[in-house]
Amino acid sequence: MDTLDRSAGEPTTLCVTALLTWDHRTPEFTGHQRHPTTLNPPTIHKQPPKKSDLHYPPGNQPQKPHVTPHKINPVLHNLTLTRYIAPLREGGSLPAIVEADDLGTYVIKFTGAGQGRKALIAEIITGELARRLDLPVPELALIHLDPLIARAEPDPEIQELLRASAGLNLAMDYLPHSIGYDPTTHTTDPHLAGHILWLDAYTNNVDRTWRNPNLILWHRKPYLIDHGASLIFHHNWPGAPATLTRPYQAQDHVLINDHPDLKAADTALAPRITHDLLTEVTRLIPDQWLTDEPGFPTPDDVRTAYTDHLLARATNRAWLPELPR
Ligand SMILES: Nc1ncnc2c1ncn2[C@@H]1O[C@H](COP(=O)(O)OP(=O)(O)OP(=O)(O)O)[C@@H](O)[C@H]1O
Ligand SMILES: [Mg+2]
Repeated sequence: MDTLDRSAGEPTTLCVTALLTWDHRTPEFTGHQRHPTTLNPPTIHKQPPKKSDLHYPPGNQPQKPHVTPHKINPVLHNLTLTRYIAPLREGGSLPAIVEADDLGTYVIKFTGAGQGRKALIAEIITGELARRLDLPVPELALIHLDPLIARAEPDPEIQELLRASAGLNLAMDYLPHSIGYDPTTHTTDPHLAGHILWLDAYTNNVDRTWRNPNLILWHRKPYLIDHGASLIFHHNWPGAPATLTRPYQAQDHVLINDHPDLKAADTALAPRITHDLLTEVTRLIPDQWLTDEPGFPTPDDVRTAYTDHLLARATNRAWLPELPR
């Protein structure tokens, strides 16, 4: 969990954009790369990467390039926020870098943000499914926020957000010196691209596009972030069954030009989505984020609805998109 320890001893080859990101040792935010906003997606003609491009030392070739196994905690860690460090103003929900009582640095996603608690539920379900499917995601935790912390904050907008977010919020391990993935310069191998696209199609994540990749590179490896816009069905439970098999719109996906091997991903991942897996993941959602859901008497009833819906999607995968050849 401690990003300071983990980054020690890692290679320090940083490019210019990396130097523009926040440095946890000198707490000042000096700017962040944003993707250019244009009216049409850039046309990118990419060839699948050749084996010779991967540059692994002889005799040390990994089975699945770029996929790192992750330790899986049976519960999310419970932290307490000790210091608000800096806002991440490029995030629409005004996430921030904070310090917690374990001295780690985290990105916090606030319950009081406009996107509401459901965005945080989607972060947990999709992020923790991704982790269990061996996709790279920063560790998630729950973080307790004492609204008194707002008193030390000069910006009235942030003060208001802190006050509105008293109690439990979502934390994500902060990956220092990470850079935003840029589909015009970065390439992902078809195996990993297929797995990421499959996850996004399965969870109906509309927020991993060339406009807003929500992929960051840390020590040259991609990490999936920002799953708050996935699981759109939970914004309208009565209408959820009608969306079960609706095909996923993949044309704007950030990895669409990387020749994603969706067939291989479907063969590998669909059998891994089981009732037990979904039960394990939905148990990670705190009860207080599941109360007051119209039509559901208890938090466990909402968990069951997520599990049933996602299990039905894993069984009938008519939502799989057709990809351009
Ligand atoms: N774990 C992390 N480590 C390092 N940087 C991060 C991390 N999570 C997010 N960021 C940075 O913060 C930015 C905003 O995060 P994120 O996309 O999760 O916020 P959001 O409010 O949901 O944004 P959006 O406007 O895309 O909806 C990211 O683009 C990335 O630059
Ligand atoms: Mg984002």
